[in-house]
Amino acid sequence: MQLPPPRGTLSHRVRDALAGSSTRPLASRPSPVADDHHDAALALWMLYELHYRGFDGVDDRMEWDATLLGLRRHLEDDLEQDLRTRFAKSGTSAESVEEIFRICDEHEGAALSPYLHRHATREQFLELLRARSVYHLKESDPVSWAIPRLGTAAKAALVELQYDEYGGGDPNRLHAHLFARGMAACGLDPTYGAYVAQAPTEVLEQNNVMSLFGLHRRLRGAALGHLAAFEVTSSLPSRRIAQGLDRLDLADAMQHYYREHVEADAVHEQLAVRTICGALVAESPELLDDVVLGAFACLDQEERIARHFLDRWEAAA
Ligand SMILES: [Fe+2]
Ligand SMILES: [Fe+2]
Repeated sequence: MQLPPPRGTLSHRVRDALAGSSTRPLASRPSPVADDHHDAALALWMLYELHYRGFDGVDDRMEWDATLLGLRRHLEDDLEQDLRTRFAKSGTSAESVEEIFRICDEHEGAALSPYLHRHATREQFLELLRARSVYHLKESDPVSWAIPRLGTAAKAALVELQYDEYGGGDPNRLHAHLFARGMAACGLDPTYGAYVAQAPTEVLEQNNVMSLFGLHRRLRGAALGHLAAFEVTSSLPSRRIAQGLDRLDLADAMQHYYREHVEADAVHEQLAVRTICGALVAESPELLDDVVLGAFACLDQEERIARHFLDRWEAAA
């Protein structure tokens, strides 16, 4: 993957440091600050990608560069603080993991799938698929970081779910690969990271939140709560999206990706809520609040993305 073009002072400096394999300019005082949310989100997204697939021409050792890790910490603190503030304001709470179903049910706000089902144009669909590709081309990877951090029962259940996401041993059934094939069939570029430069702030933030939860053992409860809400809110919307693609006669391969999620995620939601989060909280009851924080973050981020696109599309209608 190529480094994305910068979108402000901070992403510029991070990009230069990565491209030049030197963080000396970044370490100088005063510390660089972001111009806005997008600049901060893109800088953090680049720092996180060092832990996934890296960038062409960037030294792999930059993944553990102390200056970059220090900057990452700083950006993560802001992101986590922001999330926790919104979570506290929402008043979301639960006495047990089963209540994740209720929290997902009761969550109100903008949703994309009804619009995609009935109204979206071909161009709008393609715009959304480009944005979704930032996550779906590494689908399930962020929560894989949590695996070695779990006890026996939660680990076994998470690996069962991930085995499905990763195609059960068949590369042609790996969900990220199904999405890539769907993109190619829609005439889009299926290369990992191809559309990061066009991604709205909300999409970069959604990806950053998943990496934040995945990469910190401290936040393993939030990583699993996020996974649970993601699975609970996937099956029905996936059906609507597949029907919307069918209405526009858009690529069978992309319809296949969404249809695959109608049934898979009806199973995954039970596994994620009851077995994975259930086992985690049975072993570590003090993590329940973080599980609920993760579930809230998933719903909240998705709603912000929906608002972004619906505002654009409805204004254009
Ligand atoms: Fe999936
Ligand atoms: Fe799933």
